[in-house]
Amino acid sequence: MYSQHTGKVSDKWSSYLVVYDRILKSYRNQKVRLLEIGVQNGGSLEIWAKYFSNAKLIVGCDINPKCANLSYEDPRIHVLVGDATSDKVKSNLVKLSKSFDIIIDDGSHYSSDIIKSFAKYFPLLRCGGVYIVEDIHTSYWKKYEGGIFYPFSSITFLKHLVDVINYEHWGVKEKRESILKGFFKKYNFQIDAINLQSIHSITFLNSMCVIFKSEQENNTIGKRCVSGLVDDISKAERKVNNTLSVPQDQKNNRWSDFDLPADEKFLE
Ligand SMILES: C[S@@+](CC[C@H](N)C(=O)[O-])C[C@H]1O[C@@H](n2cnc3c(N)ncnc32)[C@H](O)[C@@H]1O
Repeated sequence: MYSQHTGKVSDKWSSYLVVYDRILKSYRNQKVRLLEIGVQNGGSLEIWAKYFSNAKLIVGCDINPKCANLSYEDPRIHVLVGDATSDKVKSNLVKLSKSFDIIIDDGSHYSSDIIKSFAKYFPLLRCGGVYIVEDIHTSYWKKYEGGIFYPFSSITFLKHLVDVINYEHWGVKEKRESILKGFFKKYNFQIDAINLQSIHSITFLNSMCVIFKSEQENNTIGKRCVSGLVDDISKAERKVNNTLSVPQDQKNNRWSDFDLPADEKFLE
């Protein structure tokens, strides 16, 4: 569908098309609401509208004022012009829809924009929805506020979300959001515990990150399930069946010290 598109131009890497088809297949016939940050020539919005034939709403946002001249025959497609990280764009977006099923960040690819956009729009994603960040290879480049070991790059931020998902095992008396406090300060934003609790999974692919959102109860390790009768190798602990996980206390573990993450300490 992408290569046969003859309308407005879209520009994406080939591996993304395979990933998109895999992760978006289950939404394909649904009445989705989709937001894409970064419109440029506007072709991707046309392609999304074609792919999601039952979509309710396809919104693109672009900082380039020329995007105001883009017009579409499909009434489901809207373009908002402005900086996606601004409150003004968010309030105009919310007028179109208070929640989205699919959010794609294909905007500036600067670390600060990727992180601030995530903080702004992940709360608008409904549980069961997916947030995708394209082109995170830029997080390795200085021009885009990156570098392989830079503590405040977009990919470092996204890697921290892996720890957020595993919060219940930390074994320290810190809040989930503590792991992001350096980012909150650096880029002047917040993400509340409710939104962090709703991160179900995070997948890294080459230059792409895919984050699924789900109700909090789906994001815990759950209860221990012991089944079977034969335990010749290691005596089964039947009494743990149906119990919750208890984290090991890490207060004497210097690598669990929240004073400052090691890489941020390096900056001091
Ligand atoms: C890679 S292009 C988008 C391509 C399009 N999604 C496609 O698939 O064909 C990136 C676009 O993001 C826009 N952009 C850059 N910074 C932005 C910001 N802060 N808010 C919204 N759009 C931004 C640029 O103007 C540019 O048109």
